[in-house]
Amino acid sequence: MEKTINYINDNRERFLEELLEFLKIPSISANPGNKKDIISAAEYLVKRLQEVGLENVEAISTEGNPVVYGEKITNDSWPTVLVYGHYDVQPPDPLELWDSPPFEPVIKKTEIHPEGAIFARGACDDKGQLYMHVKAFEAMQATGEQFCNWKFMIEGEEEVGSVSLAEFVTKNKEKLSADVILISDTSIFSKEIPTITAGLRGLAYMEVCVKGPNRDLHSGVYGGAVANPANVLALLISKLHSSDGSIAIPGFYDDVIEVPEEEREALKQIPFDKSAYMDQIGIKDSMGESGYSILEQTSIRPTLDVNGMWSGYTGEGAKTVLPSEASAKISMRLVPNQRPEKIEKLFTSFFRSMAPKGVTIEVKALHGGLPAVTPTDTAEYKAASDAMEQVFGKKPIPLRSGGSIPIVALFEEVLGIKTVLMGFGLDSDALHSPNEHFGLFNYYQGINTIPYFHKYYSELKM
Ligand code: BES
Ligand code: MN
Ligand code: MN
Repeated sequence: MEKTINYINDNRERFLEELLEFLKIPSISANPGNKKDIISAAEYLVKRLQEVGLENVEAISTEGNPVVYGEKITNDSWPTVLVYGHYDVQPPDPLELWDSPPFEPVIKKTEIHPEGAIFARGACDDKGQLYMHVKAFEAMQATGEQFCNWKFMIEGEEEVGSVSLAEFVTKNKEKLSADVILISDTSIFSKEIPTITAGLRGLAYMEVCVKGPNRDLHSGVYGGAVANPANVLALLISKLHSSDGSIAIPGFYDDVIEVPEEEREALKQIPFDKSAYMDQIGIKDSMGESGYSILEQTSIRPTLDVNGMWSGYTGEGAKTVLPSEASAKISMRLVPNQRPEKIEKLFTSFFRSMAPKGVTIEVKALHGGLPAVTPTDTAEYKAASDAMEQVFGKKPIPLRSGGSIPIVALFEEVLGIKTVLMGFGLDSDALHSPNEHFGLFNYYQGINTIPYFHKYYSELKM
């Protein structure tokens, strides 16, 4: 492996420059106006995959955004590792809160990243992380130190629900056949405490609208006798939680599998610094379900959050108005064994049941995703663990993440292939927020760890 590691060191600068080029493309999947940038990002990847020696590389069209595919089958008797990632990014809004433009990547030092971090939308989620695999492949191919066959499947719709990918996977089972799926789209706990993501939460995303009078009314003339949709919405939202911080929707917890005591015990061993956590995001105290630690509240427990709400007059100054309607987007993070379709139904009937007669309620399910658990007693987990230990000098700890990658459950269901979530970002890298960044340390650790994964995985599968 020495040759590969030397190759990576010798090409550090170029590996960074190529990523910076990639990050300049505003491949925002949520905005139809960026469709041409989505195509450019896919084309950029196609070019890079071809350049490093992958074969049958193409951007495969779908109903939505293209899926970039490439493969290198060196030896039919070797195991095959399928790399999944996404080249689409979240919208950069609010733009004014970025210290530098989101699609003009710059390297800056931070307290957590004294070696420097790349600031750009998508730096960590997921362009920087998927590109680690492309460069690991390059190094191994150039030095002849390959151990497994490779397949790449990089999609462009992850941030909007992977709609076309779900269909693509169902139609291309043969093409995607592999022994394991390797994904770098999650975080490690810290640079000193490497972790492997052992599970992800699912998602049920709802939009509600409370409708009252047929027009906005003068709040002096009508106020007092007419149900105000904004007041009602606030009231209904306030009833979604109980005073102990748990979710009040009847039946919500019925399918939740309680996490085994050993796993909770292992979580307690992780040195979590609550005041650093609060400082980083500028809060004075945490708030959540009682009886659970912050790490538990954000990984093994389900949650309900309002993502946005709007109603009435929100411009400058005062306008006395009783709005005719009020809306909110509400998401629930789900844990193993909860299913989005069931949760959507429970939410909908509870929300409707609480409404006063003077309003009508509309509830829509926007999208959902299944939670995932990735076992820690498999060859692929051991290979990832040994690879990280080799590069970080410390054995990684399995840790469930609070985020969602709904396609992971689908890979298992449709392809029958298990996933390893070996991510290298940090939760503090401001994913989806202004000033997203990815540490140079993390980028190069990732590129160095991936070849060892291939080596150890092939040894364990022989
Ligand atoms: N990469 C993230 C998920 C993630 C982030 C997992 C950090 C673990 C740690 C992914 O791109 C993402 O943002 N997923 C969405 C869900 C999707 C359906 C929009 C999410 O979690 O909100
Ligand atoms: Mn991602
Ligand atoms: Mn994301």
